[in-house]
Amino acid sequence: MRRKALEIASNSGSNGMLDRATPKVPTGPLLTSISLLYETSISHTMHLTAAEERILAGEEGPGRQKAIQLTVALGDIYGAKRLIPITSAQVSGASFKTIGDAGIRFLEDFSKTARVSVRASVNPLGLDLRRWKVMGVERDFHSKQERIVEAYDRLGAEPLYSCTPYLAGNRPRKGQHIAWAESSATVFANSFLGAKTNREGGPSALAAAIIGKTAEYGLHLEENRKPGVQIAFESIPDGMVPLAGYLVGKIAGKRIPYLKGLKLTSDEHKAFGAAMAATGAVSMYVFSEPGKGTKTDTKEIEECLRISTSELEKCADDLRGGDSWDLVAIGCPHCSAVELRSMARFLKGRKPSKQSDVWFCTSRKVYARCPREVAVLSEYGKVLCDTCMVVAPVEKMYKTTASDSAKAMVYLPTLGKQKASFRPTKTLLEAISR
Ligand code: F3S
Repeated sequence: MRRKALEIASNSGSNGMLDRATPKVPTGPLLTSISLLYETSISHTMHLTAAEERILAGEEGPGRQKAIQLTVALGDIYGAKRLIPITSAQVSGASFKTIGDAGIRFLEDFSKTARVSVRASVNPLGLDLRRWKVMGVERDFHSKQERIVEAYDRLGAEPLYSCTPYLAGNRPRKGQHIAWAESSATVFANSFLGAKTNREGGPSALAAAIIGKTAEYGLHLEENRKPGVQIAFESIPDGMVPLAGYLVGKIAGKRIPYLKGLKLTSDEHKAFGAAMAATGAVSMYVFSEPGKGTKTDTKEIEECLRISTSELEKCADDLRGGDSWDLVAIGCPHCSAVELRSMARFLKGRKPSKQSDVWFCTSRKVYARCPREVAVLSEYGKVLCDTCMVVAPVEKMYKTTASDSAKAMVYLPTLGKQKASFRPTKTLLEAISR
């Protein structure tokens, strides 16, 4: 019974968003499965050390006991033999919009008895903590969001409120085991940084942060990190890297793709992986670029596919949407300093066209590093921290949103109730300026 319930609950993505397919490497449970945390028993098949058994028996308090119960329950379901230490966690489920009142109750309850024991950064909130009034967020939403922030503070989590923790100080090294929940960040960590994580759910990442360990299954094991399909591109035209990720996610299915000939900047990897994780089931790709990527065993590749330039162009047409927008939103995943600099360079000397509202979303740490760029971009729109166009209550403010993010094209119409339009970054910058 417990196994069935947890399996049902495991088909979810970060921020409580539904994934498109059932992943080979399981994702963690959604916050709606919170009650399951309280139903897990202490019987288990996985081997635990004496110290872990003591935590499971409640000798270190009810918070750590609940955390290890959840971690062990998931490990048992997915056939893990043991728990392994992690160096960091990244916890999703931080916007009131995505976790609701049940999520607040869960976090407040957990925060009475538990504290994280490793570095644990938190995903974006539903608002910019300093500029929520300027955003147009309602007071009631703000008070609910404050309770979530206070609960994470009590838990000892790091208030990064970003989906790019690797740009804001929480950057794992190659080979390190971590427990990250944000889907775009798990792909970046596995594929670009060479760290090892499953796509956790909010509660399982938090549980791992509390005990400092995760169950060893899925992408923590080298044998599950081998590519099963090779994908090559005829070419990737300017601005279409996110669409390349979008298509790869759709066609790779449950197999890790090996991307032959892929040469991208780290920001392009960020956009590519985010889109791939939004349309696909796996949290890792392999690429072979001199000096970058992961050396891999390609023996298990069972199929070689090629994506033509015309397929990318057709995808751009399919996601084109309308030509006028209430909001132009850039920064999904959150902008890096390099991206802020490049946009500021382009816009400097031009004039705002003021045809729509504009959001540039980034982390507070990156914002603080780029005061000159923020000043330029602020002439064209709001440079927001702690939040994004998907997990903020955008549906209360806008109806049509254009973005350069293919991940946003998946979630804006569903979670954001928006008519969404994909455009390359340069096209959006031209639209917001003259
Ligand atoms: Fe980040 Fe929000 Fe996109 S959490 S990846 S900016 S949907």
